[in-house]
Amino acid sequence: MSKNIVIAIDGYSSCGKSTLAKALAKKLHYIYIDSGAMYRAVTLYFLRNRINLQDAQAVKEALDAVHLEFHSRDYQTHITLNEEEVSDEIRHMPVSELVSEVSAIKAVRTEMVKQQQRMGRSKNIVMDGRDIGTTVFPNAQLKIFMTADPKIRAERRFKELEAKGENITLEEVFENIAHRDYQDTTRLESPLIRAEDAVILDNTNLTEEQQLAFALDKITKLNQ
Ligand code: DC
Repeated sequence: MSKNIVIAIDGYSSCGKSTLAKALAKKLHYIYIDSGAMYRAVTLYFLRNRINLQDAQAVKEALDAVHLEFHSRDYQTHITLNEEEVSDEIRHMPVSELVSEVSAIKAVRTEMVKQQQRMGRSKNIVMDGRDIGTTVFPNAQLKIFMTADPKIRAERRFKELEAKGENITLEEVFENIAHRDYQDTTRLESPLIRAEDAVILDNTNLTEEQQLAFALDKITKLNQ
């Protein structure tokens, strides 16, 4: 019986994880799952409903009221929050500024991990995030840990946001990335950490094609 394949891509904010994950999923005809989009959609719900993050009961009730679904089209992230398409809104700054705090809450992580594991059951998937290789799929066949110079990451993200017409400075983007890196790596609940068996991919000076070639080479070696 053939076993389903899981490729786990973890790493810092704005490192190009989703770009590589999408390219791999497309090339291999796997399903792409953007786990960060799930934390962002939950954060959007918390923001809209003014959920007090310190109030455990309110957080629990909010989680019960959140229903997330991915709709795959063209290997892009299309996520609905209670049947409303929120794929664009979850990328805006109010969500980016709060998402690290929301994703540090244990009840939030427990629920998201449960849903992510369900999505990966019996399918070939590429999932990107912060704890995919360590917590969600510790037995993933391939784990990639991505990193890049923080200044380069901020510049890339700034260009993306600018192109979307977001009114923001490069310094603000840099600060947000530094804040999320700090929160993600220092939180108590499954912090961002490289799984021992993950291969490191520093893409500071690599093109998208070179990153895809690197990952495909690792996958080919899996089958040897
Ligand atoms: O990948 P992203 O930047 O869209 O993720 C948004 C936030 O969600 C990020 O700051 C940390 C959190 N996150 C997480 O804690 N665990 C994951 N598996 C994915 C994202």
